[in-house]
Amino acid sequence: MRNNPIWQKLTELAQQAERKKLNHLWQNPNHHQSMVFEFEDLYLDLSKNWLDKEAMNALCQLAEQAKLRPAIEDMFNGRIVNTTDQLPATHTELRDPNNPNYKHNVQNLFTLADQVTSGQVKTAFGKQVKQLVNIGIGGSYLGPRLVVEALTELQSESHIPVYFAASVDDSLINQLFKSIDIEHSLFCISSKSFSTVETLMNARAIQTKLKQIQGYQPDQQQSSLMAITANTNRALEVGIPEHMILPFDSSIGGRFSLWSSIGFPIVLAAGKDQFKALLAGAHLMDQHYQQQPFESNLPVLMALVSIWYRNFIGLSAYSCLPYDARLRSLPKWLQQLMMESTGKMHNVDGKVIDYPTSPWVFGDHGQLSQHAFFQAFHQGVDALPLDFIGVLEHNSPSQDFLLFNLIAQGAALMQGKEEDHSMKGCPGNKPSTTLLLRNMSAKSVGQLLAMYEHMIYTQSVIWNINCFDQPGVELGKAIARDIQEHVENDSLNAMALDPSTMALIKKVTESK
Ligand code: F6P
Repeated sequence: MRNNPIWQKLTELAQQAERKKLNHLWQNPNHHQSMVFEFEDLYLDLSKNWLDKEAMNALCQLAEQAKLRPAIEDMFNGRIVNTTDQLPATHTELRDPNNPNYKHNVQNLFTLADQVTSGQVKTAFGKQVKQLVNIGIGGSYLGPRLVVEALTELQSESHIPVYFAASVDDSLINQLFKSIDIEHSLFCISSKSFSTVETLMNARAIQTKLKQIQGYQPDQQQSSLMAITANTNRALEVGIPEHMILPFDSSIGGRFSLWSSIGFPIVLAAGKDQFKALLAGAHLMDQHYQQQPFESNLPVLMALVSIWYRNFIGLSAYSCLPYDARLRSLPKWLQQLMMESTGKMHNVDGKVIDYPTSPWVFGDHGQLSQHAFFQAFHQGVDALPLDFIGVLEHNSPSQDFLLFNLIAQGAALMQGKEEDHSMKGCPGNKPSTTLLLRNMSAKSVGQLLAMYEHMIYTQSVIWNINCFDQPGVELGKAIARDIQEHVENDSLNAMALDPSTMALIKKVTESK
């Protein structure tokens, strides 16, 4: 990769000091105009970044050379793009109303949603469902949670409140049980594999609690448990009645799965129309991604800017900062999407690569972050790419306050300020990207999330890695299983672990 002429040209461009000086870039009267892009409900301002048209054009050439266009077609045409698992990646099919999988998915979801909201489906206490508790982790949690939070304020025909139980923690489960009406709750075990330990432990803890409550009588007609999974057999083994299982295809990656059955909590919380609008928004972005030239293709541009910073400028972090409480879970969702998809050191052929891939992604609600970690953005020694995300249409004065703060931060980071007392001064010249959504509608949110998904796919094509697997997460899980087994069998001494780890395990076992 490093030997290819475009890579070398980009390395040279990044070494030219003036390209990293925002003052210098702004001397070009066309700079702003050439770095601002719009599509449907999204307005993207890249003009406060350390790059100009020349660098952007070279990055577009890099994408061409990486055969991004045919790679996009491969994904949309259902060809195998997840080479490790020998699977296509079919999440975009679920957003295309002309695809049979769209109809199938929506029909399955809406049929069960109607049965739940109409009272046809009863809990194991013979009661109507008034709440849903989603038990799932990673992609079976972050996407639904983000969208439920983003859309529940919108008008919809159904409003079933949704709660989430993700990590294994008795105190969380106990707290949850205190805040819900158990007899009216439907517990939804969301797990693509149906083998994730945390989810199964939480499901068991909930089953045990339910059994202790008088009047709990699960049968084929009434159930307080349902499942969403690509592994229906396992869900049946656990005792979930067949009509309470929403399946989805294993070709839908966990972190790309909120559009599938995994989106059931969204349907209950925000309604069927909102869910359809979410899919429609994402589909618009899918078409844009497929058809738009790279020079004005939002997901491609986002990916190219991130690659510029990561591989050519040499920055290793990335921050996502939504200035709207309804998008507060976006950074966590993006963190899994980017780091689990492109945090890899092997290319698609299994060879170790010699260039950095995923940055460390972090973020939070922008306003809260201002009072927590923005000090380092303004006066810290390093810089990092930042995405400021705001929502334009609203009817509350506090929203303007948030937007003005978002805008002020971008300006302050770029302009800086000289002070008599040098320690009070801010150097400025810190980059940022601003992304504005027209409104907080399901359609806009669909566009935003699909944009980030395609950004990640674009990164992976250019880095020549598979973004649809996550083999790296398995080792830690295996060691945890091993420790548990050895502790249970009282055979810790037989473990071949380092002295630090052994001492830590002993600390835990001896503290009981
Ligand atoms: O361990 C990581 C992971 O496999 C993620 O990729 C996934 O989103 C999460 O665990 C949950 O997996 P599942 O939906 O199979 O329970």
